[in-house]
Amino acid sequence: MGSRVQKSYGKRRVSCPWIAVAALLLSSIGFAQSSDQTLRGAAAKHDLLMGAAAYSTRLDEEPIYAETLAREYSVLEPESELKFDPIHLQPSTYNFDGPDKLVAFALAHSMKVRGHTLVWHEQVPVWVLYPKTPWTPAALGQVLHDHIATVMGRYKGKIYAWDVVNEAFNDDGSMRSTVWYDKPGIGYAGEGTKTIEQALRWAHEADPQAKLFVNDYGAEILNRKSDAIYAMAKDFVARGVPLSGIGMQLHISPDFDDLENLASLRQNIRRLAALGLEVQFTELDVKLPNPSGFNLGAQADTYKDLLGICLTQPACTLFQTWGFTDRHSWIPAYSKGYGWALPFDENYQKKPAYNAMLKKLHAGGHTGPRPPARPASQSR
Ligand code: G3I
Repeated sequence: MGSRVQKSYGKRRVSCPWIAVAALLLSSIGFAQSSDQTLRGAAAKHDLLMGAAAYSTRLDEEPIYAETLAREYSVLEPESELKFDPIHLQPSTYNFDGPDKLVAFALAHSMKVRGHTLVWHEQVPVWVLYPKTPWTPAALGQVLHDHIATVMGRYKGKIYAWDVVNEAFNDDGSMRSTVWYDKPGIGYAGEGTKTIEQALRWAHEADPQAKLFVNDYGAEILNRKSDAIYAMAKDFVARGVPLSGIGMQLHISPDFDDLENLASLRQNIRRLAALGLEVQFTELDVKLPNPSGFNLGAQADTYKDLLGICLTQPACTLFQTWGFTDRHSWIPAYSKGYGWALPFDENYQKKPAYNAMLKKLHAGGHTGPRPPARPASQSR
């Protein structure tokens, strides 16, 4: 990191000022060169953030995990440790050990932090799902409000963006039936996106500076789910509901990478951008049935093509993968027979996907600020 290099020079006692100046100059040239050879450095000239999901326990267990994460990525997102269940296992007890560690690590390495996630139907603790006395919607609403206020309050000014609501829609565009929506829900069962709106308003109250996202999978291209998300976004923007953007998870395989899908993804990003919203690729991974040369090549093309789309769409502000090394990926445990989904292999070696992305970043794309300035009429 440039800042670390400079800080360490700052601490040294250098007797001759010219030597100090020369050393600083050389170190900054060295940094500039090496920085352009990392994803975060090469993406910075496009004002694009490169992110990775991470677990705190691995930072100490594997120094190379920490070193690769800090070197290559400008955004860190806790993969699971900020979910309701791990931090709020009992009604009045919170445990922030894991996320605190990740946030401290990120800030020490000039990385931004993205929070994941406040309202989700998975990783909900037993005391919420199976209360001794059934919740009234008002009481459950109070639980969620307190959770959002406490968690976002703790990281105010440190976590720059949040997946406030995760996976709230069914594939047909209807609302998913969940404890938060209608079982019993926080008071808006059957009222469409009102639960999401309430969560965004509470989140905005907790940290007015944070960017607030609604995140989902299977809504990357034009389909019934992405149409429903677009309709929600349009309505929220029109009424000033604090929504900053839409997260696209992108858990895919190389099959996704065809002209029709890419055109559809581009169109979907454009219509969200036209509302003045950001779009972030939040959980990208490209799973394979085996790491043959052919498959690794197809995977590299997929990463490259998706990065190409993000690079040329100014509203696309983050290109983030769900982990970064095949050593630690959710895919083998959840998709039997698949794996090898990330840009680094299980020994932290750069894969063809990594090289293809770096090459793409060097090749060009949008270079102005992201996102472009919004018309004053738009609230966020
Ligand atoms: O940390 C515990 C460990 O103490 C325990 O011994 C072990 C026994 O099973 O479980 C460990 O926790 C697991 C955790 O991953 C860490 O490995 C949880 O059981 C397991 O459920 C959890 O899975 C995560 C999953 O979300 C559920 O939270 C995955 O890592 C994570 O990649 C996945 O991420 C989701 C996104 O949040 C939303 N979009 C889909 C994505 C993939 O499913």
